[in-house]
Amino acid sequence: MDYEHLLLEQDGAVLTVTVNRPGAMNALSQELVEELWRLSGELLSLGTDGVWPVRGVILTGAGEKAFVAGADIAEMAEMSPAEGEAYGRRMQEVTLRLEGVPVPVIAAVNGYALGGGCELAMACDLIYASAKAQFGQPEVSLGLVPGFGGSVRLQQRIGIGMARELIYTGRRIGATESHRIGLANAVFDDRPALLAGARATLDEITGRSAPAVANCKATINAAAGLPVPDGLDVEAHSFNLAFRTADMREGTRAFLQKRPPVFPGH
Ligand code: CAA
Repeated sequence: MDYEHLLLEQDGAVLTVTVNRPGAMNALSQELVEELWRLSGELLSLGTDGVWPVRGVILTGAGEKAFVAGADIAEMAEMSPAEGEAYGRRMQEVTLRLEGVPVPVIAAVNGYALGGGCELAMACDLIYASAKAQFGQPEVSLGLVPGFGGSVRLQQRIGIGMARELIYTGRRIGATESHRIGLANAVFDDRPALLAGARATLDEITGRSAPAVANCKATINAAAGLPVPDGLDVEAHSFNLAFRTADMREGTRAFLQKRPPVFPGH
């Protein structure tokens, strides 16, 4: 599939997706949102019939300065309320699709991740940051509010108090602070180390059962924010699903036979 603003590179079982809109700090124009919509739709079918051509995705930004500098401010300036809402809803659907992709997605944040860029990163499973990363939800500086999921996912990531502070002030935080408050999982010195770190984690995950990892991802997302009894019910259902897989039979038998598992992937 052809993309104008996304660069795709597959190395083994890891797909690296680079958002590439030079001249606009990789901002999420409507065209770019549509490309992310198409790509995330493609990725949703991974694992069908037990086939896993991709076991992990790294999402990063092109250039030296930005991961994604947010929604496209020039486009938004001319939108009607209905158009703005439609734009927000479409990108919200992209974030839901990314959460539905049955393999882990790591946001490798190499620079500015502001507004919609921070929201895009938060739709990924893990956020890794380079020392140059800058996170923030600066919508209030533009008379806006977060529109691509920030009101919901930032409080899930860092707690409601810190989320309020970042959203009300529009303040930017650097890599160290983002790590301290739990927004970024890890910080790396520079871009090569960032990408290598993301790769190393995905390689570690690739050694595990693909359907089990997919099941964990779906369970965590479905249980997020639920009252504990409801979350436990989601988990019990997922536990049942795990018992239906050949991977579970292989994993448990391999343990008992004191040998490494050879997972069939279904
Ligand atoms: N939308 C459109 N264009 C953008 C952009 C954005 N979000 N961010 C940067 N650009 C453009 C600039 O307009 C500029 O274009 P020109 O060269 O044609 O003037 C180009 O990218 C380079 O940007 P700067 O010259 O500003 O670069 P800088 O290094 O001085 O600053 C920056 C970088 C701090 C990221 C600054 O560009 C900036 O503050 N950008 C806006 C960030 C922002 O507010 N994002 C949130 C948007 S609202 C949102 O995302 C709502 C939501 O929740 C969905």
